[in-house]
Amino acid sequence: MGARTRIVSTGMFVPRRIVTNKELESYMDTSDEWIQQRSGIKERRWVSPGETTCSMAVAAARQALERANLKADDIDMIVFGALITDYLFPGTGVLLQRELGFSKPVPALDIRNQCSGFVYALSLADAWVRSGQYKRILIVGSEVHSTSLDLTTRGRDVSVLFGDGAGAMIVEACDENSPHIFDSCLHSEGKFAEVLTVTKPSSNDFPRISDKLSLDTAIYPHMDGKLVFKNAVTRMCQVLIELLGRNNMKPSDLNFVVAHQANMRINQMVLSELGIPFEKTHHTLDRYGNTTMATIPITFDEAVQLGKIKRGDLVAFVAFGAGFTWGANLLRF
Ligand code: ACO
Repeated sequence: MGARTRIVSTGMFVPRRIVTNKELESYMDTSDEWIQQRSGIKERRWVSPGETTCSMAVAAARQALERANLKADDIDMIVFGALITDYLFPGTGVLLQRELGFSKPVPALDIRNQCSGFVYALSLADAWVRSGQYKRILIVGSEVHSTSLDLTTRGRDVSVLFGDGAGAMIVEACDENSPHIFDSCLHSEGKFAEVLTVTKPSSNDFPRISDKLSLDTAIYPHMDGKLVFKNAVTRMCQVLIELLGRNNMKPSDLNFVVAHQANMRINQMVLSELGIPFEKTHHTLDRYGNTTMATIPITFDEAVQLGKIKRGDLVAFVAFGAGFTWGANLLRF
């Protein structure tokens, strides 16, 4: 019997500090009504001094380990992803490896796939487990957006959407008769790389860091929101149909969909286009905003803890993000 991959446990962490839309009104020309209407976000979490991408990742990973009654040494590979890392290099995967207290030098990989980071990471972990190379893999997405947003009116189209948080998942080898990950579909279209981007500091600049840099607005995220929105809806629908179709399934077979948490209207349109009832999903966007790679593990974790997703359910994860990159995973939990 060939090895397959199953989800063992999940964990999540969000900082204590709640930042409401009302608070954002004091930094920029925006309103609670505009933000809620356009995105579905009511509040988000921001780190306080001392909290980092790594510290949140550690908290989420520890929860996943505890829930599975595992120790760090029971893990034999780490896949980590974030946009904003503790250091420019090395990646945060090795910091997580250090903080979790491994007694052995397990490999740690950092991936950079923005909002679709989690579906990419899960696909990769599944392939490694199925190949027999690693038996149990820890995947963590952790994001500190709040320290690098343009909190003036100039940056309001982006800054109101993002929040800080971390999500973790442990996967391990199982036999093919157990509920497992069936398949993943991944895509990218680099011609849209500049549609949602932070371009500075850049390897194009000589020197890379200069006195002028702090005045350059290219250090902040820039986005063509409408183009992102349109492509997110189209691509998330397409990739779910592609993934289900090649596994001889249809949208109505799904018990639950965990979609990336960028915008409530994006997810409503995707579900309605595929004829999937809204009860078959869960949202954390209203409370945590967009935490990029962390949204899927956070939302999945919450839905499982609330009993909305049960063992044996057929579940799809789907995400779209900067790059453009997008993808989906199909699994029986
Ligand atoms: N508060 C108040 N007004 C604002 C704000 C704000 N925070 N931001 C923009 N506006 C203004 C604009 O300036 C514009 O004013 P104008 O008509 O005078 O020019 C007006 O609101 C409408 O702006 P639009 O861009 O047309 O608003 P839209 O309905 O497209 O919503 C939004 C903007 C929410 C950004 C939407 O396009 C969106 O969600 N796009 C997807 C973006 C996304 O999710 N990115 C995350 C990363 S990728 C991913 O995760 C999928």
